[in-house]
Amino acid sequence: MEKSYLKLIQGNKLYSETKKYHDPEYFERLSQGQKPEYLWIGCSDSRVPANEITSSESGELFVHRNIANLVVHTDTNMLSVLEFAVMYLKVRHVIVCGHYGCGGIQASMTNTYHGFVDNWLRNIKDIYHNNEHELLNIADPMDRMNRLTELNVIEQVRNLAKTTIVQKAWAERELHLHGWIYGLRDGLVKDLSVIHDSEEDIDPIYRYNLVKHNQ
Ligand code: CO
Repeated sequence: MEKSYLKLIQGNKLYSETKKYHDPEYFERLSQGQKPEYLWIGCSDSRVPANEITSSESGELFVHRNIANLVVHTDTNMLSVLEFAVMYLKVRHVIVCGHYGCGGIQASMTNTYHGFVDNWLRNIKDIYHNNEHELLNIADPMDRMNRLTELNVIEQVRNLAKTTIVQKAWAERELHLHGWIYGLRDGLVKDLSVIHDSEEDIDPIYRYNLVKHNQ
């Protein structure tokens, strides 16, 4: 049997020993519970590990990752993560982080049949379709793909704002939504400055009548 996975077990031992060496109470403290301030919704891409690229520690980020960092309102997995993070962990920020060079975005812009994943990528094709005019005016194929990557993040942040989970939180407290893009070439995050901090930021039809507290 191929043993390359052993590298991970050895890496884990090294991780555990290094942490304990620098901070003997590290794991004991973490085992008491979590109180992350951020929910991270990112791409599954192996090159965009949430904690590593933000130099954050265990316990700081609650993480959900899927292909092309989508917020799909029928995705019970994403909704469960979102509700748990917002209602129980009371995270203060939800970050959707896309990345340039995303295979999911790239695949969605072709007519190639990929299998079941095409159903998932359909969500991106819809964004392409809704912004076709702008996108087709971008001559360079790479620039066009980068723009769709940005439009995708903006749309996913909007999708978060449309959920009853986020709107219920807004009725009670502050919750900030963010849209970021990570660059594989320089390792830097760009803030797209998508501001959605209250239901005022979304179209009226998507707003729910929720009882306001503390306001
Ligand atoms: Co990706």
